Amino acid sequence: MSYVLDEIINQKLKNAFQELGLDVKYAAAKTSDRPDLSDFQCNGALALAKSEKKNPREIGENIAARLREDKDLAKVSVDGPGFLNISLKDEFLARVLDKMAADERFGCAKTEHPKTVVLDYGGPNVAKEMHVGHLRSGVIGESMRRIEAFVGNKPISDVHFGDWGTPIGMILAEVIAADGNLDKMESYDIAEITRFYKQANTRCKEDPAAKETARVITAKFQDGDPVYRKAWQHIRKVSVEAVKENYRELGVHFDLWLGESDAHETCFEIKRIAEEKGLLEYDDGAYIIRLDEGSKPKPPVIIEKSDGGFTYQATDLATIKMRVDDLHADEIIYFVDKRQSLHFEQVFEAAEKLGIAPGVKLQHIGFGTVNGADGKPFKTRDGGVMNLADMIKMSKDKVAESMPPADESKGISQAYIDRLVEQVAVGAIKFQDLKNNIASGYIFELDDFANFDGKTGPYIQYAVARINSIMRKNQNLTPGAIIITNPEERSLALKLSQLNNVVFRAESEREPSIISDYVYTLAQLFSSFYNTSPIMGAATPEIASSRLALAKLTRDILVKLLEVLGIEAPEVMLKA
Ligand code: ARG
Repeated sequence: MSYVLDEIINQKLKNAFQELGLDVKYAAAKTSDRPDLSDFQCNGALALAKSEKKNPREIGENIAARLREDKDLAKVSVDGPGFLNISLKDEFLARVLDKMAADERFGCAKTEHPKTVVLDYGGPNVAKEMHVGHLRSGVIGESMRRIEAFVGNKPISDVHFGDWGTPIGMILAEVIAADGNLDKMESYDIAEITRFYKQANTRCKEDPAAKETARVITAKFQDGDPVYRKAWQHIRKVSVEAVKENYRELGVHFDLWLGESDAHETCFEIKRIAEEKGLLEYDDGAYIIRLDEGSKPKPPVIIEKSDGGFTYQATDLATIKMRVDDLHADEIIYFVDKRQSLHFEQVFEAAEKLGIAPGVKLQHIGFGTVNGADGKPFKTRDGGVMNLADMIKMSKDKVAESMPPADESKGISQAYIDRLVEQVAVGAIKFQDLKNNIASGYIFELDDFANFDGKTGPYIQYAVARINSIMRKNQNLTPGAIIITNPEERSLALKLSQLNNVVFRAESEREPSIISDYVYTLAQLFSSFYNTSPIMGAATPEIASSRLALAKLTRDILVKLLEVLGIEAPEVMLKA
């Protein structure tokens, strides 16, 4: 059963407004910006006064008088021009927490009208090792997938593999140049294919003839040349395997492993619809759709290039059509580097004109880059692009330095340590990626990101492990009803009561950092609580049981939210 404090407070306000004959539209409270003054505040009296041309303080006082009769509220005041400040009785707050503790969803609501939300993230490309840029897309997208599921929507994640464009022709041309044909293709692994691709890249930059050869091969391959298609199958297969391994390590899940190639047939349909609607223009050998020249004119969308190949934009339009027709998407969200913003603006506008996604919300969540200490996109020491596998390895090495040696006599096996290193390193990488506002980039600080103090993944994992240990030490005690006896208990309790609000805000704003901020604050509040409110030294057995219940609820919510962020919570943490 959902039990949401914000809704209870809003209901109290609504009743008061109704009794006074006031418009209930303004009866809404929010968590107070001034926790020193109140728990909740409501600005409804001000808004009402404006629309009804009345004195806001007078309206405020009338509402406050009603609310003061409510036995759940400790204090209601009208401040400034007419703000309502509302504080809860400790006893009432305690009952709210009891209800949260008794519910497997901690009282959180579930959305009444579940939406099908297609999440497009990952976006790796064939024959290219994934680099740190692919990290953010995977980490943020995965967290959003889990947030959507938690609030009750139906998420479908799709990797949208880049498996179709000119890189394919380039690799094929390079292999043919080396071997004379494609007979040996199937013996090449991902490392060799990547090497061919790198060589091809350099060659095509230097030699226009090589570029032309790659273009011709790409066109033939897209047209269905069986020899080229067979070679492509292999390239795609080994690339997907490599990518899957990387994402497995990061705990990033995809429901669908579709690629650009899967949209090829539908590209013809997009072209046909554009033609039927009179939107298709032939311009300098290419087929384009012009976009409205509004306040911010955008370049036209190119559907088909002069050489006959469909573009990245055409593929994305076709993919939208498929997601709407086949998956019945209500929303499609893209987690892609914000440098691709223009691409998505163009695609969304063209989709609207084509009428392929009526009523479907299309949204691009653009994120900033992962940077090195110089503020530029993260590079390896020799100036190359840092690949994702190396970055994970580097992080693990760093975390391993802080671990004690295995000691079987204490039950600490090497296997446990290895697993822990992985959980902490990946947790540190992910938390660092999710702790900042998504749109901003950040500096990857190898010395800081896995620190056990500060706003890091390991700090939160430690908080959880510490509570686990508290629970083990107090096994003879059962968590009981919550009793609030001091300010630290109250602050923690009030923060915990905001859970529902936090999760739903993260969903609607598509901003997992709202959750990571909250998790960090909870861990800090727990620490202050535990320093001042011992369990063993509690004044009465009831207070001891209450504190144990607060500790358990904090732990359970932290674990749940880490899960929502895609971060594991080890039972026990170790430090050298
Ligand atoms: N493969 C693309 C890249 O590496 C990202 C794909 C993003 N998703 C999309 N539907 N366009 O840039």
